Amino acid sequence: MPPVIEAHGLTKRYGSLTAVDAVDFTIDAGECYGFLGPNGAGKTSTVKMIHCSSPITAGDLRVFDLDVREQPRSIKQRIGVCQQEDTLDPDFSVRKNLTVFGRYFGIPARQAGERSRELLEFIGLWERRDARIRELSGGLKRRLAIARALVNEPDLLILDEPTTGLDPQSRHQVWDRVRTLRRQGKTILLTTHYMDEAQTLCDRLVIMDHGRILVEGPPADLVRTRVGREVVEVWGFPPALVAHVREQGWSFEADTHRLWIYTDSGEDVFEAIARRFPSEGCTVRMAGLEDLFLKLTGRELRE
Ligand SMILES: Nc1ncnc2c1ncn2[C@@H]1O[C@H](COP(=O)(O)OP(=O)(O)O)[C@@H](O)[C@H]1O
Ligand SMILES: [Mg+2]
Repeated sequence: MPPVIEAHGLTKRYGSLTAVDAVDFTIDAGECYGFLGPNGAGKTSTVKMIHCSSPITAGDLRVFDLDVREQPRSIKQRIGVCQQEDTLDPDFSVRKNLTVFGRYFGIPARQAGERSRELLEFIGLWERRDARIRELSGGLKRRLAIARALVNEPDLLILDEPTTGLDPQSRHQVWDRVRTLRRQGKTILLTTHYMDEAQTLCDRLVIMDHGRILVEGPPADLVRTRVGREVVEVWGFPPALVAHVREQGWSFEADTHRLWIYTDSGEDVFEAIARRFPSEGCTVRMAGLEDLFLKLTGRELRE
């Protein structure tokens, strides 16, 4: 089976600004694939080219084995998009937002009605079907936008920062729905700047910064191979500690107040430090994506 998305040298420029800089990636059917990166990394620009609402500047991009330059309409029919910004229609009720959207895809009214009911039940909004959009909380709006993205029964669901600005309860509800869709076999492309979100949802991900892909792979593998198993975090340390860490050849990052040492044997490092150096605090924890991100995008003390 060909990949759902295949990008080679994919580039997006706005005037002199290169927002997406010759990236390569492949997304297979049934996976939840993440684009993780800070604001301005180029995530939205990338997904807009995928759902054919922004032309590519250079490179190649195939979606469902079709060229985005040649068959944008066929591609759009098979994609559901939940945009980063709220695009729900404030003049319509919850239910009507879905049925009207169904009509855009040429779905007959009766079928759109049934589909809307299923989707509203799926996201737990059936009881609120007659509510106005302005009566909904941010979390409910986002869930409705996800439901709307599913109206055309897409083969690929694109979620652009689905939980930005949501409270923890709403974030977990969105994650739960995404997991259910993933289990149903849908291919999902997700962008986020939340490390925990990427780690918990994505089978594979890229970390993107300044339009470039820095690393790609399953999150746990990336952390294990590029950071190590554990992180020893030290606050309020003397300069001699930095010298010691360098002497030992330990991999580390530091800013003014904190130092992170990446290691497979956290307890040993912890003890070595606690024994020799006074500090405000020192802990050992499991390494995570945030450590990888810091390591890649850098905040280390440089001489
Ligand atoms: N339509 C546009 N015109 C000009 N610059 C844009 C446009 N859209 C995005 N950019 C710029 O491109 C860069 C990447 O933006 P974007 O793809 O939205 O990043 P992200 O989604 O990762 O936050 C940013 O510097 C942004 O300001
Ligand atoms: Mg964005």
